[in-house]
Amino acid sequence: MMNDIQEILISKEEIHEEVKKLGAAISRDYAGKCPLVMCVLKGAFVFMADLVRELTIPCTMDFMAVSSYGSGTVSSGRVKINKDLDTDITGRDVIIVEDILDSGVTLSHLIELLKGRNPASLAVCTLLDKPERRKAYVAIDYKGISIPDVFVVGYGLDYDEKYRNLPDLCVLKPEIYTK
Ligand code: IMP
Ligand code: MG
Repeated sequence: MMNDIQEILISKEEIHEEVKKLGAAISRDYAGKCPLVMCVLKGAFVFMADLVRELTIPCTMDFMAVSSYGSGTVSSGRVKINKDLDTDITGRDVIIVEDILDSGVTLSHLIELLKGRNPASLAVCTLLDKPERRKAYVAIDYKGISIPDVFVVGYGLDYDEKYRNLPDLCVLKPEIYTK
């Protein structure tokens, strides 16, 4: 697997430092509350697992699967719900946990959909941000690390469903996705 990697962009140690900061900020802001922490599958599952273990407040968790990318590296601009939440979010404080904010198309659609279900509040927490590629505006409440416009894998992020299990955030060799 490492043969396909060009370089490590962000090490697991750096990621861990960032996740600790995000967890502390959320714990502070939601003191006395019990938010629903919502993982956007599949990419955010590794981040979600680490993030919730940094929370010092009670919370519940749920998972939602949306897709916009297929197996390519360019957004199709369409969002499809593949798995919906099990939880009724009416009156709940919801925190959407995302792996990466790229064009913002997926998340902006998801936010509109969830707002329609009348949560008490809705916040967005993303580990990674690619601001250069934004097409749809998304207000980010908790932002980890901004990265340049490169395609990254690892720490939950995939290329063609592979590489999610790499512990560090890595840049693939271009020949992997151009062949
Ligand atoms: P957006 O709608 O363009 O913001 O798409 C966001 C989604 O695309 C993320 O949740 C990821 O699943 C995927 N994505 C965007 N950039 C990358 C990347 O560099 N590597 C892997 N997946 C990515
Ligand atoms: Mg994702």
